[in-house]
Amino acid sequence: EKGTYPHYMLKEIDEQPAVVRKIVQTYRNEQGDLNIDEGIVKAMNDADRIYIIAAGTSYHAGLVGKQFIEKLAKVPVEVHISSEFGYNMPLLSEKPLFIFISQSGETADSRAVLVEIKELGYKALTITNVPGSTLSREADYTLLLHAGPEIAVASTKAYTAQLAVLAILAEVTAKSRGMNVDFDLTQELGIVANAMDVLCGAKEEFEEIAREYLATTRNCFFIGRGIDFYVGLEGALKLKEISYIQAEGFAGGELKHGTIALIENGTPVVALATQESVNLSIRGNVKEVAARGANPCIISMKGLETDEDRFVIPEVHGLLTPLISVIPLQLISYYAALHRECDVDKPRNLAKSVTVE
Ligand code: F6R
Repeated sequence: EKGTYPHYMLKEIDEQPAVVRKIVQTYRNEQGDLNIDEGIVKAMNDADRIYIIAAGTSYHAGLVGKQFIEKLAKVPVEVHISSEFGYNMPLLSEKPLFIFISQSGETADSRAVLVEIKELGYKALTITNVPGSTLSREADYTLLLHAGPEIAVASTKAYTAQLAVLAILAEVTAKSRGMNVDFDLTQELGIVANAMDVLCGAKEEFEEIAREYLATTRNCFFIGRGIDFYVGLEGALKLKEISYIQAEGFAGGELKHGTIALIENGTPVVALATQESVNLSIRGNVKEVAARGANPCIISMKGLETDEDRFVIPEVHGLLTPLISVIPLQLISYYAALHRECDVDKPRNLAKSVTVE
């Protein structure tokens, strides 16, 4: 039930801090350590390469998940769009493990890949929000998101839940492989949840940003580098699916290789700057688009901010920024859709779960 909320999407955005806390609680053992089923950890350790298969928002979560697993557990990861994988299968490693990420657990494109790789005799782990869903039943292992039902067509809390579960999977795998994890993930996810509370409490700011940048625009670009780029892809998907504004996410450095031709006077460009190592270079990209008339909206993180930034998110661990930097993008999309009188929870042409290939 959406209670006093005007839309499920807004309710589900607001639930994100509680979902992250619930996930941490659920994946903790009696000693207080993060814990994943032994069979899954063994499958992660037996694999020489991990193949993440997903669609849409879940694919975007997979791109971030690759960073978590490679940086912490040091296992190579490939991320594939499920509808592409079937007829365009890459050369597989000797001991692959497949991870299917699917909020609904029913996406037909992902299921088709699962059927195919099971026939080849490979092991599969499904990360889903729905216990007993097709992808969960047909995989060898399941990790649940514990996000509660997601009703709005635009996925929000499932994305952040996927990231939290992937971070825990990466950390537990890393520790079991004797890799040094130099931070306490439980504590850092607590900081993330608190930061989410701050962002969910700043709705008027995001409504104002949506009004200022998106009220009448035809298009909008999202730029970032590294994991900020992946969050930008998700921001662009959110905006286009509910507000029908044409939106694209780009790697900051790739703009000048073509897309910059689309920048006109007043084109909104949302730039994410949460990563210290690329802070200067993304700001350089902002200058490039601003010089061509763009209307830049920089969203940075505390500690990296400058006077030109439109919004500064609270500081969290550098690897975990996607869990919070996505919230401004979700809320900006929500308000842009409202201002344009779109049906936020049931956008045109879209279904909550896509059960046809
Ligand atoms: C976007 C959205 C879709 C889904 C995609 C995969 O907001 O909801 O892009 O993410 O259809 O769905 P699942 O995760 O259920 O496999």
